[in-house]
Amino acid sequence: ARTALGRRNLVFVGLMGAGKSAIGRMVATQLGLPFIDTDHEIERVSRMTITELFAAYGENEFRALETRVIKRLMRGGPRVISTGGGAFINDNSRHHIKSAGLSIWLKADLDVLWERVNKRDHRPLLKTENPKQTLQDLMDRRYPVYAEADLTVQSRDVRKDVIVDEVLEAII
Ligand code: S3P
Repeated sequence: ARTALGRRNLVFVGLMGAGKSAIGRMVATQLGLPFIDTDHEIERVSRMTITELFAAYGENEFRALETRVIKRLMRGGPRVISTGGGAFINDNSRHHIKSAGLSIWLKADLDVLWERVNKRDHRPLLKTENPKQTLQDLMDRRYPVYAEADLTVQSRDVRKDVIVDEVLEAII
């Protein structure tokens, strides 16, 4: 289908738990485009998990690697790309995304995010005394930046295919 995408990449941004990977994968199938998740790509090239990378090198090194991966992915395409929650917040990564991608912010409320991230424990940023408060703090700091994405789709607590349809409507 012809979409507002043209030859650009479709890039999902937003906080952890917003559904970037799950929705992104489904949208890619619908569009007949390849799907890639930047966290998986980082793990593949570094042969380490995100948790191991944070522990061994710290967040700054992780961000530098993330930016390199995003820069490279943005040269190719079109693809559907889901990014780690901090990618769009990083000025360098955001610049690369903006230059070659149509960005979609999957926006969700605290309780929806919490419900989803609470079940898993692989997010190094949430290894704090009060992870729900940490999530709220991340929302406060990051939402103004995510708002710079080209499009916003609310990631509500409904069936995923409903959200997928809303994404497709937004870009077609
Ligand atoms: C991060 C989100 C994670 C991962 C890393 C840092 C963040 O990705 O990149 O733990 O800064 O919000 P998800 O959004 O896929 O969980």
